[in-house]
Amino acid sequence: MTKYREKAPLDWSNLSFSYMDTGTRYRAWYRSGQWQAAMTSDNTITLPEGSQALNYGQQCFEGLKAYTTVDDRVVLFRPDLNYQRLNRSARRLMMQEVPERVFMEGLERVVRDNFAYVPPYGYGASLYMRPLYLGVGDNLGLKSAEDFLFTVYCSPVGPYYKDGFKPISLMVSSYDRAAPRGTGHVKVGGNYAGGMLASQEAREAGFGEAIFLDAATRSYVDEVGTSNFFAFTSDGTLVTPRSPSILESITRISLLEVARSMGFKVEERPIAIEELADFEEAGCCGTAAVITPIASINQGPLNYQYGDGVNAGPRTLQLYERLLDIQLGKDQEFAHWLHPV
Ligand code: PLP
Ligand code: COI
Repeated sequence: MTKYREKAPLDWSNLSFSYMDTGTRYRAWYRSGQWQAAMTSDNTITLPEGSQALNYGQQCFEGLKAYTTVDDRVVLFRPDLNYQRLNRSARRLMMQEVPERVFMEGLERVVRDNFAYVPPYGYGASLYMRPLYLGVGDNLGLKSAEDFLFTVYCSPVGPYYKDGFKPISLMVSSYDRAAPRGTGHVKVGGNYAGGMLASQEAREAGFGEAIFLDAATRSYVDEVGTSNFFAFTSDGTLVTPRSPSILESITRISLLEVARSMGFKVEERPIAIEELADFEEAGCCGTAAVITPIASINQGPLNYQYGDGVNAGPRTLQLYERLLDIQLGKDQEFAHWLHPV
């Protein structure tokens, strides 16, 4: 028992959002209609060169976190929703669906096996879980794989943006991230490869990240490269984009429910770019980004500013604190969102 409680000698308060080889990961192969799973200490994957994942981007993934709660339990935040989204991505890419027992077993075994790397309570850190799903085979033409590899690895992480809960400034990208009837609503690697240049250009111009407009008309706000967008209007309504090309963020689904229960009016609707001028507060939300306040959004000569640019606005702060309370097991109302491991 004491061995199980031992923790890796890490500087828990200063973790960044980066890869760490924690020792073990889960691999489940789908071959000839059968799933076969095992843990492995090998952090490399050997695949046939013709694999659809490597040549045609037939791959999708998930991101979620394990936390140590205030009462010293280790929990996953809403893994059932990640399971459903992984299979929505898989269906869109014509991949075999992953059975729920394989998905959950992968997460649970990786958390238990890497218990030493689950950050203890109180450091603002968590164990980031990365389920990854690949189409595999000796292939040349454009068609779906018949074999698949589902894997789960993990890394202890701190904040995605180095300053944590500090406002960042965004630049409206001149690139499009995803088309309305494309793959923007699912979590596939190609969406991210296409967005890297936008992020880099935003950073080179001195901004924290890129924000994308809808590709069809470029007149509505879609989302940020790594998270969904939300804002508060001057009458205190929480607004967030409805768009066919944004990822269905589990953090956002959760925040909308929490906000309603806190008495906020909530609107999910297209957000015209001109409305950016009127918002009082704005933020990004996602697993890695948690809630990151937005200080400003820049589009050429236009610069929209929120709050004092240094601190999060009061409503954003209220939501952030409530979300953390839920994830750290301090909240009764949404305690059922935590999956103990
Ligand atoms: N949008 C994009 C493009 C993302 O990469 C993410 C991160 O997963 C999100 C939104 C937020 O989704 P979630 O809250 O499920 O992590
Ligand atoms: C997440 O928030 O889980 C993501 O997948 C974003 C990724 C770019 C780190």
